[in-house]
Amino acid sequence: MFDLDEFIADCRSALAADTSHKLVRDVVARAVSNPAAMLKVLGAPTRAEIQRLYHTNDLTILNVVWGPRMTLMPHNHQMWAVIGIYSGREDNIFWRRVPGDPKGRVEAAGARALCEKDAEPLGRDIIHSVTNPISRFTGALHVYGGNFFGAERSEWDPETLREQRYDMEKALRLFEEANVSCAAK
Ligand SMILES: [Fe+2]
Repeated sequence: MFDLDEFIADCRSALAADTSHKLVRDVVARAVSNPAAMLKVLGAPTRAEIQRLYHTNDLTILNVVWGPRMTLMPHNHQMWAVIGIYSGREDNIFWRRVPGDPKGRVEAAGARALCEKDAEPLGRDIIHSVTNPISRFTGALHVYGGNFFGAERSEWDPETLREQRYDMEKALRLFEEANVSCAAK
């Protein structure tokens, strides 16, 4: 079974034992190994949203629900992360900075398809974009080794791939737009 308070406590102890993502990844992997138990507690995803489950200066835990076929532009976090999928799929494209580019542009560097029960660690400097490639909601635990909402971060314009300051409001609007386009179908 999945218990949210226990999960948060386990993440906290993992972080206390090792400040990297290593032990937290194990905690997330354990949680998503039983998607049915997680769905019982978090509910089946019905709308695209970023739900804060826990938030402090050194640890942020989110329930991220991606709308069908929704894409979020390349961005960084400036802290490690662990993504655990409990329903659906997430395609991650990884990007790297073009060396010496004055506009701070990025180029594609790799990709990883995440499926239900996967728990993927992302390093501190990773730049990724995320797509939900399927026609239903994807539900994922996103755990970050820091204050996700307080960090100075970057995003890259999806059309020009130029670097700009991360705009949390814009990201949240994208989730809302995904719900509007869902409702229109
Ligand atoms: Fe991200």
